[in-house]
Amino acid sequence: MNIGPVDIPNRFALAPLAGISCTAFRLLCKENGAGLIYTQMIDAELISGKTPHEVKAFLNICDRERPVTVQLIGAEKNILVKAVHAVEPYADFIDLNVGCIEEDYLAKGCGAALLKDPPQLASLLRAMVKATKKPVTAKIRIGWDNQHINGVTIAQIIEDAGAAAVCVHGRTADQGYAGKVNWTIMNQIKQKIHIPVIANGDVTSYDQGLELLTKTGCDLVMIGREAQHRPWVFSKDSVDIKQQILRFIDLYEQYEQRQEPVEVADHVYWMLRDFKTTEDTKKVHLITSIPRIRRYVNRLS
Ligand SMILES: Cc1cc2nc3c(=O)[nH]c(=O)nc-3n(C[C@H](O)[C@H](O)[C@H](O)COP(=O)(O)O)c2cc1C
Repeated sequence: MNIGPVDIPNRFALAPLAGISCTAFRLLCKENGAGLIYTQMIDAELISGKTPHEVKAFLNICDRERPVTVQLIGAEKNILVKAVHAVEPYADFIDLNVGCIEEDYLAKGCGAALLKDPPQLASLLRAMVKATKKPVTAKIRIGWDNQHINGVTIAQIIEDAGAAAVCVHGRTADQGYAGKVNWTIMNQIKQKIHIPVIANGDVTSYDQGLELLTKTGCDLVMIGREAQHRPWVFSKDSVDIKQQILRFIDLYEQYEQRQEPVEVADHVYWMLRDFKTTEDTKKVHLITSIPRIRRYVNRLS
């Protein structure tokens, strides 16, 4: 499977997850089989103001997690182009966020607001494509609300602008994360455009991922919230949850620049969701050092 010139080793992608996708988390998803890794969204204004050294440290991308898509959010052409230049040495793909529903971003015309302004979306993407030799992609929703489902048109605009792929979260902006994912629109998009399409929404297992690929005909399937709790969702094998959590802590200590116990505790708590224990696992948040979090996990039964 290829997107543009880049080989993707399988059909599973890790979704961009703001506040969750640290390097250790991305690496654990990769080790468990995610074929394409997205960073969380990165504010174009913020990143374009950094020095090359700061950008490298901020992204903290390891060669082992490649291919990696760096996702940008923005709506000002000049700033987005600057951001593209800033991240392109480290990115295998550069993605534009066309699905974010945070009020602050919508107010600035970013994220899902672009679904309501196709000419602006086309103009931004054309500028991004022109600014880099790296393939540019976009991640969209199927429309603004039920009365304005324009995912097919939006995907065609993205293709015409020169993008290498499009990812579709099968909900409207208005739905947020509620209600059902619309497979029909994902399928229509796949039929209408020629670049690869990534289907996204509500996949909670490897088999469901395969099912979504079959139902939509899409090229890749992307998993987000389930990976937050089970970075091993990309694997068809069963795993030892405790070993996975200990591996996460190792990766965090080895590769993360921040070394924040709070961040480790969050991930440990999320990954303990399906671990059978009588302990109140929320208490992991009270532990203030990473070695002690490791000891806590080791003792869990
Ligand atoms: C906590 C959280 C953070 C997210 N951050 C991003 C983001 O940075 N960029 C983006 O395009 N989508 C973001 N999303 C949306 C997911 O990438 C994905 O499209 C959505 O969760 C649906 O997929 P899922 O059902 O597999 O989670 C986020 C979702 C959640 C729950």
